[in-house]
Amino acid sequence: MSWTERQQALLRGMGLRIWSAPPPGRPGPVPAQDPVAAPPPAAQTEPLAVPAQTSTRTAPPPVASARTLPPAPPATVTAPPPEAMTAPVSALAATGVATLDWPALREAVAGCQACALCESRKNTVFGVGHTSAEWMIVGEAPGEQEDRQGEPFVGAAGQLLDAMLQAIGLTRSEADAAHQVFIANTLKCRPPRNRNPQPEELAQCAPFLHRQIALVRPKVLLAMGRFAIQQLLGRDEPIGRLRGQVHDYHGTPVIVTYHPAYLLRQPTEKAKAWEDLCLAVSVYRQRQGR
Ligand code: URA
Repeated sequence: MSWTERQQALLRGMGLRIWSAPPPGRPGPVPAQDPVAAPPPAAQTEPLAVPAQTSTRTAPPPVASARTLPPAPPATVTAPPPEAMTAPVSALAATGVATLDWPALREAVAGCQACALCESRKNTVFGVGHTSAEWMIVGEAPGEQEDRQGEPFVGAAGQLLDAMLQAIGLTRSEADAAHQVFIANTLKCRPPRNRNPQPEELAQCAPFLHRQIALVRPKVLLAMGRFAIQQLLGRDEPIGRLRGQVHDYHGTPVIVTYHPAYLLRQPTEKAKAWEDLCLAVSVYRQRQGR
């Protein structure tokens, strides 16, 4: 099997070099020396064909094969409850966000004035995707373009995210729940000049994200960047120390990885991001019982 023109274009879009064809009969392997170079094709009917299945969640299986990627550490880390990890108490938590349905939640986000970000935003950025998506992606906060368009990840980082998703057969475009992801951010409003989210803002906005996750009920959560990781897991360690493990958010496995904007600045880290995606696929497939 060799990569089709379209698949090669996808991999290039993710900034990855093309690797030679895998042996016949082996789905979507990655190369020994360069794990980023050959993610699986963006199959439409078998989207998540990367890693082989070997074990249970407490022992994440090797991704693709033992020779292709470093073995994933056999760790399932229990997160503190998200409510416990944010110091300031969210005013929203007290207003029953945790009981809202989708339309009410959208309305609550659109009208939110819980922190000062409401004063500078053009639009709130609620999130997009399948409301029962099996994959949920959590990013950081809207940037300028997202603020203007009211949609997450529409800038350069978004293009890379799309390519990453496509490389494992996922999309933000309309599709079934197994293929169309739901994308949300920790903050629904843009921080001025794209500065980092502040603890108070993260705390105020947390109930929205938690409610979105509760409504979507994804099989896998992909936390991109340190603020998403903090918000979901209450962990502050460097991403390099947290990745390669299967974390837990109220019973849902969480894979952590680098933010696409960071990958644009540090393209050499894409290999690690690819490993993280492979781990996520592996965990997803375990949850599928395959
Ligand atoms: N970065 C994010 O984390 N989210 C967006 O929506 C855009 C850029």
